[in-house]
Amino acid sequence: MSTDVILKAEGLTKRFGGGGFLAKAPVVQAVSDIALEVRRGETFAIVGESGCGKSTLARLLMRLLEPTAGQVTFDGQDISHVAGAGLTRLRRDMQFIFQDPFSSLNPRMTVGKLIGEPLEVHAPELTAHERRRKVAELLQQVGLPAEHANRYPHEFSGGQRQRIGIARALASGPKLIIGDEPVSALDVSVQAQVINLLGDLSRDLGLTLVIIAHDLGVIRHMSDRVAVMYLGRIVEMGTAAEVFDQPRHPYTQALLASIPAPRGAEEARPQLTGEMPSPSAPPSGCAFHTRCPHATPACSAAIPAPVRVSDSGHSVACHRWADIPAPEGQATPPARSEQAEARFALYRAALAGAEVQYAEP
Ligand SMILES: Nc1ncnc2c1ncn2[C@@H]1O[C@H](COP(=O)(O)OP(=O)(O)OP(=O)(O)O)[C@@H](O)[C@H]1O
Ligand SMILES: [Mg+2]
Repeated sequence: MSTDVILKAEGLTKRFGGGGFLAKAPVVQAVSDIALEVRRGETFAIVGESGCGKSTLARLLMRLLEPTAGQVTFDGQDISHVAGAGLTRLRRDMQFIFQDPFSSLNPRMTVGKLIGEPLEVHAPELTAHERRRKVAELLQQVGLPAEHANRYPHEFSGGQRQRIGIARALASGPKLIIGDEPVSALDVSVQAQVINLLGDLSRDLGLTLVIIAHDLGVIRHMSDRVAVMYLGRIVEMGTAAEVFDQPRHPYTQALLASIPAPRGAEEARPQLTGEMPSPSAPPSGCAFHTRCPHATPACSAAIPAPVRVSDSGHSVACHRWADIPAPEGQATPPARSEQAEARFALYRAALAGAEVQYAEP
């Protein structure tokens, strides 16, 4: 993996409401002052509880939303306010996979038409025959028979539909794909298949992946680096090993402790209590102080800036990180449910290059 940065955000902020015909709605501070760098060829994961701003961040990174403040740079170009031909070029280089493979594919179009459509836009030089060949190639790339081009979306299972969505995203030859919860609508056994497919594609095609998930188990074994969000801000960022095995932020520690565990093991571990506060009225200072077992009065006074805690770039935004005992790390990996164990076994086998047999529903 290179250290070449393909996507960068600086001071990225998005507020909703408070102006125009939404003037009466409360202002929602969905994303606040985010700085991150995604390196070419890596899989970068964004995790956090529902409502913490993951989808808003993804839409800002893709220029599906315009930022209230801050900047997004893709491949060296500021795309924060790009429009017109620049936007068409961006849509070719940066693609999106949707959460719901059922509603994101037009039911009246054949698979061939669905995958051929982006080709018509981004590769207009292809003849109809060349386009059909390319569609067949893309179907094979995502593990579907080329003959499926004549079928309609309803004739496929959820996992197969998500493969069609991926083939459609690949059609324009993107450099980067952003998946917002790309597998959370799928059965667990199918999730692993689709995750592994994305991993294979990223390796074979040199693609960069940005994956958003609230399920830490799903991303643990596929991501190179991870950003943890809380109430619109990144509270911890680092390699997957740093964040999962040496989490320094109390929120990350609590989030990891809430991964489903076998019966009887829950009591021993700290759990995240209480609701996430509303992003329209975030707590002062460190927004996590209302739920944090380590909070002191100073924590509600100022927003903590990210601090580098390792040479590799592991960073944590917590006033008290230096006083909080580091977890015991890999010596005591968190216990997992049987279902999660089975899923991780599939990931590991596939990562090791083994032929893995999955059950397609
Ligand atoms: N278009 C919008 N107008 C007003 N508020 C919005 C809009 N989009 C998102 N929000 C608010 O911004 C906050 C962050 O939402 P977002 O969808 O980014 O969260 P998320 O982390 O993706 O959540 P989930 O895990 O449930 O998908 C929420 O409080 C949401 O209600
Ligand atoms: Mg979302």
